[in-house]
Amino acid sequence: MSDDSWAVAVDLQESTTPSLQVRFVKETNASPKTAENGGSRKSWNQADLAEQSLLNKLIRRSLVRNRNQVEVLQRDPASPLYSVKTFEELRLKPELLNGVYDMGFNRPSRIQENALPMMLAQPPQNLIAQSQSGTGKTAAFSLAMLSHVNLENKWTQCLCISPTYELALQIGQVIEQMGKFCPDVKLAYAIRGNRMERGTKLQEQIVVGTPGTILDWCTKHKLIDPKKITMFVLDEADVMIATQGHRDQSIRIHRLLTEKCQMLLFSATFEDSVWKFAERVVPDPNIIRLKREEETLDTIKQFYVICREKEDKFTSLCNLYGSLTIAQAMIFCRTRKMAAWLSVNLRLEGHQVALLSGEMTVEQRAAVIERFRNGKEKVLVTTNVCSRGIDVEQVSLVVNFDLPVGLDGKADNETYLHRIGRTGRFGRRGFAVNMVDGEKSMDIIHEIEMHFNRTITELDTSNLEEMESLIS
Ligand SMILES: Nc1ncnc2c1ncn2[C@@H]1O[C@H](COP(=O)(O)OP(=O)(O)OP(=O)(O)O)[C@@H](O)[C@H]1O
Ligand SMILES: [Mg+2]
Repeated sequence: MSDDSWAVAVDLQESTTPSLQVRFVKETNASPKTAENGGSRKSWNQADLAEQSLLNKLIRRSLVRNRNQVEVLQRDPASPLYSVKTFEELRLKPELLNGVYDMGFNRPSRIQENALPMMLAQPPQNLIAQSQSGTGKTAAFSLAMLSHVNLENKWTQCLCISPTYELALQIGQVIEQMGKFCPDVKLAYAIRGNRMERGTKLQEQIVVGTPGTILDWCTKHKLIDPKKITMFVLDEADVMIATQGHRDQSIRIHRLLTEKCQMLLFSATFEDSVWKFAERVVPDPNIIRLKREEETLDTIKQFYVICREKEDKFTSLCNLYGSLTIAQAMIFCRTRKMAAWLSVNLRLEGHQVALLSGEMTVEQRAAVIERFRNGKEKVLVTTNVCSRGIDVEQVSLVVNFDLPVGLDGKADNETYLHRIGRTGRFGRRGFAVNMVDGEKSMDIIHEIEMHFNRTITELDTSNLEEMESLIS
């Protein structure tokens, strides 16, 4: 970790209003160039008004339906949001129950109902858990950590690792919100840019962060004694153990822990080989695993649009303008270069677009996400850096401007599922639109369809009637 970093340790009692993320935004408000301070103001006259109004109507209708939908789904045994228990029956401490209700949660989701008793059992039990995107895994393991800490002990007891900076911040915010009524529980963020005084041990019972910084804090800076960690959470566990850089660091952290440390692994996807690896490194785990056909959510409708080349994809994207303006959209590109090209062109057409890619500074990235979360920009153009975990409930449309492809040129099914999972959060409805530019990408669509055993429907953005029948 670099020495120019600075310290943030959040006292949960004080964190009800000024969250870490807010502080970042205040400091960096002026820096990122967004569509508000750059780009032309040319209006979107080209778009067909009838088309716009139809799309607006459709998206608005689906947003209105959403409110009741969660309750309906929570009563439907086939839904991943279904539960037979209440939060009270999960025996949470009263202050955590207050935190949960304060967040507006009425009932647990299935993963929360099933995983919490396993995570809180005595003696501690390990868990590898899979649950669809947007079904509340964060709250599940955050409640487990908040329940687990022993307040008598003024040292770090729970470590939670996530693959990206943005996600670590988001998880921290959930812990802060849920722990609002637990004044003595403290949280620290082990993320790039966060400087701590070396050599003194942290007193925060929970540390959430990215693997590189956590490793530094455990080894080089000796801020955390890994032997005293009793709960270890890996969010997006499959990517943490399957991609090279993350795997090396995660394994090194894992080796520092004691055998008694409780291991909790979560993700929406676990490729077979990763699952086997996880079972090898996690002793005697409880397992919550989805069947392949359960992995995709019925609430997310999937389409593809046939295009010729990137300019044509851009035109098709512009045809979806109506939906882009109503709620929020995330557009995924394969490379930073493509993301930059697309955001420039969308801005030239007068859109307020945010761009987030890996080469930006962490402060810029935090500011961009915060602005998008607050609805300042309706469209976020990004790369895979945002494909996992990011939770912005108003995202009603995900566009794969480039389809997710692995190094072997085959469909990257896991990334696909995570990307489309940025919409349809917790029972909301969502649309995923894939831009297909040629035979190769059509093959990728077929591979994805076969993998999940789901049909992806062709969408002709110029045929209003057809669109209405497909989308409604
Ligand atoms: N019991 C609940 N009742 C209502 N809303 C909930 C409940 N649990 C979680 N949520 C909401 O659901 C949304 C999605 O939760 P979360 O981000 O934890 O999903 P996830 O399972 O981690 O998804 P992903 O696989 O994409 O990371 C959040 O906005 C969260 O506030
Ligand atoms: Mg998540």
